[in-house]
Amino acid sequence: MTIIDGKKTSDEIKAEIAATVAEMVAEGRKRPHLAAILVGHDGGSETYVANKVKACEQCGFKSTLIRYEDSVTEQELLQAIDSLNADPDVDGFIVQLPLPRHISEQRIIEAIDYRKDVDGFHPVNVGRMMIGLPCFLPATPSGILELLKRYDIPTKGAECVVLGRSNIVGKPVAALMMQKHLPGDATVTVCHSSSRNIKETTLRADIIIAALGSPGFVTADMVKPGAVIIDVGTTRVPDSSRKSGFRLRGDVDFDTVAPICSAITPVPGGVGPMTICSLMKNTLLAARHDIYPA
Ligand code: GUN
Repeated sequence: MTIIDGKKTSDEIKAEIAATVAEMVAEGRKRPHLAAILVGHDGGSETYVANKVKACEQCGFKSTLIRYEDSVTEQELLQAIDSLNADPDVDGFIVQLPLPRHISEQRIIEAIDYRKDVDGFHPVNVGRMMIGLPCFLPATPSGILELLKRYDIPTKGAECVVLGRSNIVGKPVAALMMQKHLPGDATVTVCHSSSRNIKETTLRADIIIAALGSPGFVTADMVKPGAVIIDVGTTRVPDSSRKSGFRLRGDVDFDTVAPICSAITPVPGGVGPMTICSLMKNTLLAARHDIYPA
């Protein structure tokens, strides 16, 4: 059984990006610049954004963090987005989700210039992804594909079961896994909260991608021996033995599933670090105008 090491893989990729950035700077070009808007003080979002800023430093990028309180209005956020869209020094930016309920996430996402949408959430990027055109791929699905590629996991014709249908992970990863390129070219089934006989479906899977946010949902009796397990879950569960008072738990019951599968991503240290690394890749692509010409 292989533990798929997302931390090590992401460190390797960040080193590759840093080397490219060093070359760009040596040629007299500016460093890639990622900006992030963070609203409020949600613990998970604070950690994600802090990790994104840290990854920028590791890659040699400039980063800017713009903070607002939960009381920010949609209009104020839209104005901040307009400024970032117009700022020639900013190559790409993200608005960390979720947002407070009084703000429409969709309106915010659609206000971002798709050429700076390094999260790959704008409908232009989503649509281009669906038909296989160059675009900013969403970070978590892209990180998952990179792990499958770097660990030589066969996907052509494989039965792939995706658990969860979110816009950020489930839907895009299902689309990418079914597309006619590698990694991909799989037979994909998506299960969600209204699906019947989930266990019957997962037992057929060569690859399970669990992204439903339900800690320990995938148990050993749901897994075909030798399957590959990708765990996207990162739920904070109380843990009094930790200084923080919590630990991260995946959607897979790691201790019972790991012994029967052929490869598995741990939580933490699996998909999480790869997600941030994919955002760095997109920022580099944006800075070099590799997807959309300047
Ligand atoms: N919230 C959870 N995942 C993400 C992500 O990939 N990007 C943004 N902007 N917010 C998120």
